[in-house]
Amino acid sequence: MSLNNEVSSRRTFAIISHPDAGKTTMTEKLLLFGNVIREAGTVKGKKTGKFAASDWMEIEKKRGISVTSSVMSFPYHDFHVNILDTPGHEDFSEDTYRTLTAVDSVVMIIDSTKGVEPQTIKLFKVCRMRGIPIFTFINKLDRDGKEPLELLSELEEVLGIESYPMNWPVGMGKGLLGIWDRYNSEFVHFLGDEKEERMGLDEVGRLGNDSLFDSVRDDLSLLDEAGNQFDAERVIAGELTPVFFGSALANFGVRSFFDTFLNFASPPRPRKADEGLIPPNEENFSGYIFKIQANMNPAHRDRIAFLRVCSGKFQRGMSVQVSRTGKSIKLNQTQQFMAASRETVEEAYAGDIIGIYDPNIYQIGDTLTEGKDPITYRELPQFPPEIFRKVRVKNAMKGKQFKKGIEQLVQEGAIQLFKQELTDEYILGAVGQLQFEVFEYRMKGEYGVDIEFTQLGDRIPRWLTAPPKDRRLFDSRSLLVQDRHDRFAVLFENDFTLRYFTDKNKDIELVDLLESN
Ligand code: G4P
Repeated sequence: MSLNNEVSSRRTFAIISHPDAGKTTMTEKLLLFGNVIREAGTVKGKKTGKFAASDWMEIEKKRGISVTSSVMSFPYHDFHVNILDTPGHEDFSEDTYRTLTAVDSVVMIIDSTKGVEPQTIKLFKVCRMRGIPIFTFINKLDRDGKEPLELLSELEEVLGIESYPMNWPVGMGKGLLGIWDRYNSEFVHFLGDEKEERMGLDEVGRLGNDSLFDSVRDDLSLLDEAGNQFDAERVIAGELTPVFFGSALANFGVRSFFDTFLNFASPPRPRKADEGLIPPNEENFSGYIFKIQANMNPAHRDRIAFLRVCSGKFQRGMSVQVSRTGKSIKLNQTQQFMAASRETVEEAYAGDIIGIYDPNIYQIGDTLTEGKDPITYRELPQFPPEIFRKVRVKNAMKGKQFKKGIEQLVQEGAIQLFKQELTDEYILGAVGQLQFEVFEYRMKGEYGVDIEFTQLGDRIPRWLTAPPKDRRLFDSRSLLVQDRHDRFAVLFENDFTLRYFTDKNKDIELVDLLESN
């Protein structure tokens, strides 16, 4: 296959949702379609105690969650599908956000009984900032949920995205009759037991339920008149989300969702580098590291760097250059990720994710390139942390290891570090509680240091565009700190203190890192 065909067959995406919306159930169905697994319950055996290959750390096993985002690849019809898993537990981490930089589209699962939930909002915001196309699957149609029109207005009001329903529920919960496939002009009759029957819209009369169909027709004519038009370009631009209703558990509407999604989802797109936009079909191989996973095997202390291929063809054994250091490296030990196993990867193209053995030479954000002219990707922003803790070493004799550990873990991107100007205190910032636990675990395991945290709680960080002139403006509610690049930031206690401060100090410019990335 030509490079162009390889690239255009790639569909690399992540599934985002609030915990319990049905991400695992959906992932399993997709893996079943792709013949990656043979039965449900393989990805995450919450109750059976079975764990997927990605669950490698003690901490993961204890809690039954996936600390690391794994990658699942499989061929499906004419596509080469790469699903990047994002930790769905409340304790997600910066890795979750970083993973979103490595995908070309996102599937957002919403629980029809709950609507748009907090974690979805956070993840959505990151996708929106990056202009990633978002496809919405409204799940659990087999349960009595919110009205479909209400769910659409939630998408618009809470998330601020326009929507186009590709299908429309006819009944719900116990009274679920099926979905009106607006896009293919068909009715999909729900038969239960993972079975469905398609029929022309003129045939639905034989099912009875005239009044139900009448009200669906009313909804649809309202959508036709007042709703958005379908526009594939706006979908790709991330401005319009196609919405599908269905049930992951009942396997209803999932396959048609997946088929339509793959057709409209974005193939690998050009990526931003210092040298300009690099197209995915550019001859030379290039990619960037979006995640480093340490201690895959605690006995060996090895690390795996996750690389998103952005252009060219990767071949095992090829020599590449690390742009940051100018060092040349032969890529022999590489892996591709499947749900149940890791396989050696021989070749890969834009959109693929490969795991590279890391003898401690890579950093998150590093670009690897082939050829004489190295480039540097600018795909990984610093994500603003939301929760903060002060940290200190328990045993003062271990001060040196403590500093070394912090330095390395911060550099690796496990957690963010801040300092107050006059004190020697370390403040750690994270986007999820789990990062603190992983930090504590690794400080002990890898550096032999016991640490002690003091809560600072949730804070809203804002960066200052210029060093502050008057330190007296800041206090414990608006804590002045410096990040590891010596940039000044203020950690506000809550929205109120942030607003109060901005109102009083109009001459001080504050930026939200996420918006300025
Ligand atoms: P998550 O990965 O997003 O956290 O969600 P997960 O798929 O684990 O689903 C959360 C719960 O919702 C599970 O039930 C799952 O069976 C259920 N679920 C998923 N999709 C549907 C659906 O379409 N309809 C209905 N009615 N339920 C659905 P659980 O009892 O918490 O766990 P389990 O014992 O079934 O694994």
